[in-house]
This record gives sequence, structure tokens and C-alpha cells, in this order.
Amino acid sequence: MCGIVGAINHHNIVPDLLQGLSNIEYRGYDSAGIAIANQAGLITVKRQGKLQCLRDQLSQNKLRSYVGIGHTRWATHGKPNEANAHPHSTAEVSVVHNGIIENYLTLRQWLCAEGFNFSSDTDTEVIPHLISYFLHQGESPRAALCHALSKLEGAFALGVLFRDDPEHLYAVRRGSPLVIGQGDQGLCLGSDTMALPAYIDRIMYLEEDEIACLSADSFELTDQHGKVITRTMQAFSADQSAQQTHTHQHHMHREIHQQPETIRDTLRHTRRSLSDLPFDFNRLERLHIVACGTSYYAAMIAKYWFEQIARLPVDVDIASEFRYRAPLLSQQGLSLFISQSGETADTLAALRYADTLGQKTGGIVNVAQSSIARESRFHLQTHAGAEIGVASTKAFTAQLVVLATLAVYAASCRNQHTFTENYQLQLDLTALPGLAAHALTLEGHCKHIGQSLKNCKNAFFIGRGAHFPLALEGALKLKEISYLHAEGFGAGELKHGPISLIEQGVPVFVLAPKNQLLEKTLANMEEVAARGARCIVLGEQQSLQNLPAHIETLQLPEFESPFSPILYAIALQLIAYHAALALGTDVDQPRNLAKSVTVE
Ligand code: G6P
Repeated sequence: MCGIVGAINHHNIVPDLLQGLSNIEYRGYDSAGIAIANQAGLITVKRQGKLQCLRDQLSQNKLRSYVGIGHTRWATHGKPNEANAHPHSTAEVSVVHNGIIENYLTLRQWLCAEGFNFSSDTDTEVIPHLISYFLHQGESPRAALCHALSKLEGAFALGVLFRDDPEHLYAVRRGSPLVIGQGDQGLCLGSDTMALPAYIDRIMYLEEDEIACLSADSFELTDQHGKVITRTMQAFSADQSAQQTHTHQHHMHREIHQQPETIRDTLRHTRRSLSDLPFDFNRLERLHIVACGTSYYAAMIAKYWFEQIARLPVDVDIASEFRYRAPLLSQQGLSLFISQSGETADTLAALRYADTLGQKTGGIVNVAQSSIARESRFHLQTHAGAEIGVASTKAFTAQLVVLATLAVYAASCRNQHTFTENYQLQLDLTALPGLAAHALTLEGHCKHIGQSLKNCKNAFFIGRGAHFPLALEGALKLKEISYLHAEGFGAGELKHGPISLIEQGVPVFVLAPKNQLLEKTLANMEEVAARGARCIVLGEQQSLQNLPAHIETLQLPEFESPFSPILYAIALQLIAYHAALALGTDVDQPRNLAKSVTVE
């Protein structure tokens, strides 16, 4: 979603701003812009579309400055066009903004009555006008900023640049994350650490309602009443390698192929963290798991594991629904919030809500310094490394590894298994990295299947047990990057409605692991095959051996384990990737999608 960069330095910062914007392209955006301050005053340049359009424009302007801000916008209020792109500027002040100003209509009306002219449809544009209003009253830049902040409602992170104070760059956080960084060449700010230039070696995340005033050599942190806050920065070294696709054509492809390693790392770290968990699974009455998107499907899969393996009841909620259904949370319960980014606004709001109800809260995040990590009472990290492709792949399987490890641990805490059963589950977990590497060798076959979807209009995914939510994830992966219409169903539910969508040749992916549900899943396959569907069955050798010749198959590695969805996920990712490649879509930055969704 929207990204912020800013820099103040002793050298020209325009290349730093562009590099920062390029580093956060992965968040998803539809326009980009920068504003700088120099002898000519404030100069704002913005363009609709990809960053290259802005780069092309800037290559003609040859702008130079020691201080500036930049932004990639993911449209919420107003179309994705140039007028609505950030920065939004008046003659005196330029602003970049992430988040939403909830009272913007009231403010806009009032500012219009005061004679201010608006040129965009955004909520953001009220901010520079409001600051200008207070500047016109004779207030200093800092006082005008604080005064404006006192009038704003909503959640936001801001970068603010003043024409008459080019020695400083201001950063403000309320609700949306913002990080400041320092290095030998200067200071900068970003909506996440990816936005920061390579020379940054210290960082600090702003806390709620803090204002940072950056100069080229130092910074001052205050609250909104001007009271100075003292906090030291943490050491930081940028993961530059995450920005490269290396030998792969896309980040998504690289990230799919990193899974043997990310699964191994996550398993090792999670096992080490178990003894430090600040609660006792044996005393837990209920687990509530809350997440969005792919992370939500990880939660749904984990429900099967916790209930079947550890006999621990689990409720799973979509984060955007959680608070509004007034959930009945068990006082002896634990609420877990799963989020790759750790910044998803709905998941963060759900965490805060559970906290107010006195719940024990825990986060499962990929970004260790994210808001969800910092605000939950404890957190476990998925060690997937930076995930750049918008469609989550390695972060998803890493989430599943954390959840599977927790479920096995919960089972032993709750005395649900004999030593031998528990040992077998541990062996299953240990086997995952090697089996994931084996699953990747199926790429040639997955590519063939993916390419064959090129002329389809619809595709369906069906499964039972923990493979039902995986069917939902398989469909999501395909639709988000290939734009093909895809749906997932519980295999047994098809005949209660969705089967009416089956017609000659429509692809139906049947997830058929060798378990006690296999016969029933294959019977559901027969129902759609009889109606002309093109069935593609994913299963182990024994699941596939007696299938009729006209049924297509993809043979997964032998793994009769509750954790087999992790391997099937890899095959489904590869199929989606190759379908998207065949259709020529923007695999890493699919249209309309954002990596980190920081608005509710
Ligand atoms: C966005 C992304 C999805 C992701 C979801 C939840 O919609 O495009 O890939 O699954 O957010 O993100 P989170 O960071 O909370 O896991």
C-alpha cells in the first residue's frame, strides 16, 4: 500500500528518493511523486502509473536538492491519477501521507470557506492547506504542524517539508508505521525499512503521536506538545539482497524456490522459542486466531491441526469482521494474530480490541519490528526473509510451519499423544525442508498445467479437511496474479450449489492427499468429472494409482502427514505463477493489490 520516503543530506537526495521508492514498489501503488525544497522554493513532480513514468519526467528536470520527500500512492479517496498523487503541496508546505484522514470532509469545507482551493479528490490535501492556514496566522513551521495535527482525525503517517525551513524534514506517526534512519551521509524516513538507503546503519520506529524533526546530521523527537522524548536508535543493516531477483525472472519465483531454506529456518527458530512462550497450553481453554488474506487461510488450516492433534478448540476470524461480531472470548483463552507484514490495519485493530478485552495476545509475523510484533504480548517470527512479491508464498508456508510446530507442542503439553505419536509428528516437521525441495522439482509439470489454463475463464479448487482451506488459498493465488476467476470449495459442498458452474472442460483442481478422506474426495471428483470438468488431481502415488486414464494427475512427494498442505501449497504456487506468466500479467505487482494493507 502507499509508501513514504524522505531524505535530508549533504548531497543531492533525488537519487536516494527514487531508489527508496523503487525499493517499496513491492507494496503496490498506482502513482508516484516527489517534492524537494531548493532556492526556487518547493518543487513537486508526480506521475500516474509506474515509477518509470516519474523517473522519465525527472530525467528531463535535472532536479537537485538536499532535502525531499516521496510517495507511492495506492488509491483510496479519488482515482489513481496525477492530481490525486502525492506529495500534496501548497506554496509553503508539501506533504506525503499514508492512512486516512477521517474528518477530511469537514476540514475541506471549512478550508474552502477560508479561501483555500483544492485540486484533488483526496483526503490528504486538507493537511497542507491546514498547515498553510496556521502558517498564515504567523505560526512557525513546527507550531503550524502541531496545530494542524490537533485538528486531524484518523490514522496516518506523514512526511512534511516546508519551503521556509529547508534545513529540516518532519515525520509524524499516528496509527500508520513510520521509521527514521541515520547513517554517515544523512537522515531519512520511510514507511518501512526497505525504503531506507544502503548507508543507513541506525533506525528508530516512531511511536504514536511522536514528531521527529530531522536535519542532515541529527534529529529531535518530541510529542505533539513539544516535549522532548529521549530514545536511542537501534543498529540496522539493510537486506539489500531481498531487492534482487538474482537468477529468477520474478521475486515470486525466487521466493517460491527459497521455501526449503525458509521452512528450515522457521522450524529451527520456532522450536527454540517454545520454552519461552508466556502461557501454558495445558491451561488454555480456547484459541482465537485472527488474520487477513493468505494469513487467514494459514489460520484456517491451523484450526484443523490444533483441534485434531492437540484437541484444543479454535475459532478463526477474518480480522475485518472480528471486532464487529462482538466475539465471546474465553478468559482462559489466547488470541493469535497472524500477519506477514505485521502492519495490516484490520489485524492490528483486532489485536488492540482483544487487548482491551483482557485477552492474552500473541503475534505471528514475518517483520520482527512491525506494529503487531510490538503490540502483542509475545510474538513468534516466521523466518521467511523479506517477501517482495505481492502474492504471499514463502511467508505463507513459514506461517504454517510455526503453527504446525505450535500444534505439536500443544499436543505434548496437553498429553494428547503417546511418545511415539509425538515423535512421528516431530519427524514429519523435520522432513518438511527436504520434501519442499522435492516438491519444487515438479516445476516442469506445474508449468505445463499453469500454461494450459491460459484460455480458461474459470478454475475451481476442491479439498477436504485441512486441504479445504488450502483449496481456498490455491484459488486466491491463481486469481490474484493471473486475474483468472478461481474459487475454492470444500469438496463435499460442491453439490450444494457450486456444481451448477461446472461445464465442459472447466479445470477443477482436486487436492487428494492419502488420508482417511481420500475416498470421499475422489467421489466428489467423479461428480464433477461426470459433468465434463477437466479434473487435475494432486496427490501421492497411492492416491493417484487407480484413477481413470482421462483424469490428469500431479504426483506429490510421499508424505502421509497432517502437514502435507505445506507441500501441496508449493505446487499450487507454481501452477499459479506459470499461469500468470503465460497470461503476461505483472506477477510481482498485480493490479489493484497491495502488499501491506494499512487501511481498514
Ligand atoms: C494483502 C496481501 C496478501 C496478504 C494480506 C494479509 O492483501 O496482498 O498477500 O495475505 O494482505 O497481509 P498480512 O501482511 O497481514 O499477512
